[in-house]
Formats: sequence, C-alpha cells, structure tokens
Amino acid sequence: MKFQAVLNNVHNIDARNICSLIESESVDVTITSPPYFDMKDYGCDGQIGFGQTYDAYLDDLKNVFEGVFRCTKRTGTLWVVIDALRKSGEVVPLPFDFDRKMREIGWKLREIIIWEKDKTVPWVHKGQVRNCFEYVLMFSKSDEYNFYVDNVRSCENIKKWWVKYPERYNPNGKAPGGVWDFPIPTQGSWGSGYVRHFCPLPDELIERILQLSSVEGDVVLDPFSGSGAVLAKAFGMNRAFVGIELNSEYIDMFHRYLAAVDGGGASKDIEGRSCSKDFYRAILDLRVLKYARVLYKKINDELDGALLAMRAEYSTGCTKKKNALVVVEYKMVLRQDVGCAVDKVLDVATRLSGKAPLSKFGIEPYFVTCERVCDVVARDESVSLYTERVTHKVWKKVAARELSDVLGAGVIISSICVDFDESNYE
Ligand SMILES: C[S@@+](CC[C@H](N)C(=O)[O-])C[C@H]1O[C@@H](n2cnc3c(N)ncnc32)[C@H](O)[C@@H]1O
Repeated sequence: MKFQAVLNNVHNIDARNICSLIESESVDVTITSPPYFDMKDYGCDGQIGFGQTYDAYLDDLKNVFEGVFRCTKRTGTLWVVIDALRKSGEVVPLPFDFDRKMREIGWKLREIIIWEKDKTVPWVHKGQVRNCFEYVLMFSKSDEYNFYVDNVRSCENIKKWWVKYPERYNPNGKAPGGVWDFPIPTQGSWGSGYVRHFCPLPDELIERILQLSSVEGDVVLDPFSGSGAVLAKAFGMNRAFVGIELNSEYIDMFHRYLAAVDGGGASKDIEGRSCSKDFYRAILDLRVLKYARVLYKKINDELDGALLAMRAEYSTGCTKKKNALVVVEYKMVLRQDVGCAVDKVLDVATRLSGKAPLSKFGIEPYFVTCERVCDVVARDESVSLYTERVTHKVWKKVAARELSDVLGAGVIISSICVDFDESNYE
C-alpha cells in the first residue's frame, strides 16, 4: 500500500507486523501506551499482555518497538506511557525492564517523566502507598532529535526575583519540569458513551508531547491506539496520523468519534505559549539595561573610571551570533579628565562582552565611544536615567537639556523605561 494511503487511518493489524504497513524512516513521533501485562483482556486474539509470561510479554514489546525504530526518521522520538505493576504484593519494575529491551534495539532514553494522575481509586492496599503516577519514557533514535521546548514554556509560578536577574530567565518562560500533573480523563469527557475503552490518555498530556516533539504536517504513530486519543489529538493539531489496533470495535468507535467532533477536538491555542509578549519584552528590557550597568562598572574598575555614562538602545540589526536574542548599541561617553584611549576602552568592552556574565545575556553588543553626553542624546529628546546600582527601576526621567545637571548620579541612559517596584519582586 502507498504510504499516503496508510496515513490518517487506523489499521486493524497486529502491531508486530508494523513494517508490512509503514515504510522505513517515515514517522516523526510515536506516542503510545502498550497493553497492560496480564491484567486486562482487550477481547481479541493475538493480543499482547493478557495470558502471557512476563518474558514473552517483554519480547513481544521489543518486537513491536523494533518495527517502530525502523519506521522512525533519524530525528524522530518515541514516548511510552508505562507503569510498574505488582505480583503477589511485590513490585515488578516494568519501565526499567522495558528500557533495557529498548536499548538492545538502539533507542536512547532521553527523559523519564512522572505523570501525576491526580484522581485515582481512593483505596490503598495494606502495606502500600497509593498508586498515583505513571512513567512517561522518552526515547530518541539518534542524537539529533526534534525537541521543541520553546513551544511549551510557561510563565506560571516564575519566581519573583526575575526582575534582578533577567539574564537567568528565558523570555519565553520556564521549560516544563519532569513531573506532569494531568488528571485522567473521566468517562464522558470524550462524548457520551464513547469511551468504553480502558484508559484513554488525557488530552493535555498528548498535546504537550505533540508540541514538544512535532510540528504541523509531521507524521504521528500509535501502534496500540485503543480509543485513538493520540490520533484524534494529532489530527486536531494538523499532524498526519497512523494508528494500529487489534480490536476492530475500538477502531469503529474512533471513526465515529472523529466524525462527531469534526476535527478531533483541536485546541484553541495549540502552538501558543502561555507567556505574554509583555513578559518577553520586560525580560529583554531588563537585560539590555543590566548589561549596560555591569559593563559600565567593570570598565570603570579596570580603567580607573574612564566612563562618564553609557547609553543603551536596541538596534534594528539582525543577530548573527548563536543564542543572541537582540542586537544592542552601547554608546560609551568617555570622561575627558581621565583621558583613556578610545581603542583601549573598545578592547576592554569587547573582551568583557565575550566572557561570563555578559556573554550569558543573549545580547549581541555593538560598541561606540563618544566624547560628550550631547553626542548620545538628541536635543529635543527625553530619556530615562538609571543608577550604577539599579536598572530595574527608573531613577529619573529627564529632558536632554537637564542631563548634565544629574549625570554622575544617573549613569545609564536609555529610551527604555522600566519601573518595577523592588519590594514586589524580592
Ligand atoms: C493500554 S491500551 C491503549 C490505550 C490508548 N493509549 C488510549 O488512549 O486509548 C493498549 C491497546 O493495545 C491493543 N493491542 C493489544 N495487543 C495488540 C497487538 N498485538 N497489536 C495491536 N494492538 C494491540 C489493545 O486492544 C488496546 O486497545
């Protein structure tokens, strides 16, 4: 069958025969939860897990994921939701045994994520804690794998001291941690009567994995598709999908569901980051100003107070350096009575900019020296002044003609005006 005809469908075959369906190196990401070991009867011949020995079960899973490995592009990833289990009260560490099999195939384990399931059955067996999480194991096929962490950054719960240390915060927000808290879907959340299947994965969990691992148009695979939750979400997020499922009743249910929701329940703001543009801009402004303050102080320490003031402004130029977020022009006003050579000042500034801490600011600096303050401020301009110690709160806003009266106390000049009340951000 041509691969295009395989796409956007669920195929009623045994996952062990995946290579007969999907061509090599064609899948971008696989997201799946394998059948449970000897616990659930999925009601079909040839099912993996039910009635098997543990070793036979692990070998069958290895067989399936060997096929998935072959079907996966070099840059592709595999995400497996899997849990430990108990036999006669003892823990069977399935995720770790599974990982060993995966390494034999060539999969590289990249992340162990704890999926905190929130609501679970409230009872606890004697001598055991409540089982409230599963593992999400992320594997890659090679060292160059797709991982779009900027798609899932968030500004929630960011510590308040970002005002003083803007260089330590990504302006797009924090990358997610390794514990994910997504409640398990309740019956009915997939439409009344749809989910008679055992454990559909939560929508939010699938969405996060898809955002992290794929872009629109990518091919998403689930070789144990069950309710088809992964496939429906992939469809809703404009990815192509391929499902494999042995129980044809589940496949029929999936098709009815997809038709009913007309697009698989796409998220409203799928690629949107939760950080606002204001936060992004605030972090950059703070970085630009703090950079000026740190540089001003370091140059003056090294060159016996060679600088009188420094002006910091965004430049319209494009960044050329790796990891640079913006290009900024720093105009340094030299103190005439010190009389330091221009070349010397520029050399020191360039050297300092290539070393930590300044090299960590994501700023591509452009240095200029000037002899007089009037060379850095236009005659009819008003600017913000910052002191040698504080660049998160404007010290004074002044017109150009008042500048010479206050220079010395305020040393960083800019059209950027930030005014964060320190006591709110300690
Ligand atoms: C844990 S469930 C998957 C649940 C799914 N992630 C969801 O969100 O609904 C495992 C699925 O694997 C299917 N299965 C078991 N053995 C299989 C095999 N050999 N080939 C394909 N599917 C199989 C079962 O019918 C079951 O639907």
